[in-house]
Amino acid sequence: MVVICDSTRRLLGNLFELEDLGPRELNGTAGSARAWAALRASSVASRFEALRAPALTALVGRQEELELLLRRWSRAKSGEGQVVLLTGEAGIGKSRLAAAFQDLLKGDPHTRLRYFCSPHHQDSALNPLIRQLERGAGFARDDTADEKLIKLEALLAQSNAQPDEIGFIAARYPLPELSPQKRPRPAPAPRIP
Ligand SMILES: Nc1ncnc2c1ncn2[C@@H]1O[C@H](COP(=O)(O)OP(=O)(O)OP(=O)(O)O)[C@@H](O)[C@H]1O
Ligand SMILES: [Mg+2]
Repeated sequence: MVVICDSTRRLLGNLFELEDLGPRELNGTAGSARAWAALRASSVASRFEALRAPALTALVGRQEELELLLRRWSRAKSGEGQVVLLTGEAGIGKSRLAAAFQDLLKGDPHTRLRYFCSPHHQDSALNPLIRQLERGAGFARDDTADEKLIKLEALLAQSNAQPDEIGFIAARYPLPELSPQKRPRPAPAPRIP
């Protein structure tokens, strides 16, 4: 197992599910220290939200960026679809700006879809989509494959997806004949027998 100390735990926010191991004598430290076992990644959607303090400090600057986003938003509302690519080095404030923009949209009816990529999942095709479906269906960590399938079907029943389309998502259904390149390869976790 991976064991961490209290100061590391504070840095992790709630990114991981931890087990309190209580005070331990650890090699190289004087006296005992509280130790935690990292059990697994928690199912938080957003790294930014998992790590950020409950209350954000006031936004500094970024007026121009917010105004630009609002102009794009009003164009989108008038029927002209918009795409905004927000890019910059780590820690420059991309997530913070997105959160500030989201606050401004509070009174405006909209649907928000969020997909998160991760360098740890580069080998898993469509990982952000799979995670989004898992959250949408409400998978719990201890769910059996059958329970997951029932939840997934309940979720998909809200759409008008046809059985052959559902086959892309829940492998119990026959997969349409596709080349290996076109066939979605789910990550190990959500595979349905
Ligand atoms: N304009 C700002 N005013 C106040 N705080 C800010 C501002 N921009 C960023 N911060 C703070 O700086 C920290 C890093 O910002 P943020 O997480 O948004 O960076 P990022 O660009 O999304 O980084 P990463 O690429 O690692 O995701 C956060 O604590 C955030 O609240
Ligand atoms: Mg970010």
